[in-house]
Amino acid sequence: MYRIAPSILSANFAKLGEEITNVIDAGADIIHFDVMDNHYVPNLTIGPLICEAIRPLTDAVIDVHLMVEPVDRIIPDFAKAGANIISFHPEASRHIDRTIGLIKDEGCKAGMVFNPGTPLHYLDHVLDKLDLVLIMSVNPGFGGQKFIPEALTKLTAVRKRINASGKDIMLEIDGGVKVDNIAEIARAGADTFVAGSAIYNAGKDSDPHRYDSVISALRAELNKV
Ligand code: DX5
Ligand code: ZN
Repeated sequence: MYRIAPSILSANFAKLGEEITNVIDAGADIIHFDVMDNHYVPNLTIGPLICEAIRPLTDAVIDVHLMVEPVDRIIPDFAKAGANIISFHPEASRHIDRTIGLIKDEGCKAGMVFNPGTPLHYLDHVLDKLDLVLIMSVNPGFGGQKFIPEALTKLTAVRKRINASGKDIMLEIDGGVKVDNIAEIARAGADTFVAGSAIYNAGKDSDPHRYDSVISALRAELNKV
């Protein structure tokens, strides 16, 4: 019922393949793939070529979080590169219903992402078309930031809307998720948990990098909910 999604933003990029297979072997469910363009957000990361390169390494869902503007041009490239879920920020799309349709026409699940300051009204007319809602609990652009508690209120509000819709829509949280706050976040309504620094920093001192204990610790907290 709960899914753990390591963000490869905090992985060692010189060993990216191993860093992905190691978290999956350690029990992670989803690979969270952060795409930044130095325009919508003040950082620059990875694109469709890297997605295509990692696709053969795992059957796990690749969850592409687009922090790019404009959005639509790059969506087919990620679909062809093997993405399973593609999420975008509504402020970065001129026509949000069209963007959702484009993601689905390309055969992927569609997600909408809410920054800490973004109102939920963007859901009003499109919630039924979404497969995922992603609540940001940091401002997008960097790993390792502190969890913004207001995100809990937002999760609870979105959980109510999803339940009222009767649809099977994932509710994901991204930013500052740690062993000591994941249970509280689950109680607020999230079912999918992105964790970058919490997971990748925990394994970086072992050789090879091992992530079993941190992923078990996250799951143990979720089992208490
Ligand atoms: C931030 C990214 C996050 C980030 C989370 O813009 O969307 O996915 O990697 O990193 P942590 O878990 O370290 O806050
Ligand atoms: Zn992300």
